Amino acid sequence: MTEWIDVASEQSFVPGEKRMFDLDDATRVIVLKIDDGIYAIEDLCTHDHLSLEEGEIEGDEIICPFHGARFCLKTGEVKEPPAYEDVTSFPTRIENGIVQIRDPRWD
Ligand code: FES
Repeated sequence: MTEWIDVASEQSFVPGEKRMFDLDDATRVIVLKIDDGIYAIEDLCTHDHLSLEEGEIEGDEIICPFHGARFCLKTGEVKEPPAYEDVTSFPTRIENGIVQIRDPRWD
């Protein structure tokens, strides 16, 4: 099983504010706190493979700034076209006040 990686202290997260994190050389992740927890999805819209970093947040969804596809921030599930594939989501946890994420794709 892949290891958990430290992102930042839980206290430093502002609800609804995106934090960008390089999980590895090829994978950039958006980590953010929304109402009931901290979630992480890949910063890669599945429509044209562009960044979601500047996407607006509405509730638990992010809207791609390029063509308006919507994804659930909690699960990565696609909610509206023109994207039809889910975004990769990553498990998160809090250990001793530190937010951690893990990449299960390599398990
Ligand atoms: S690149 Fe995201 S909707 Fe087109």
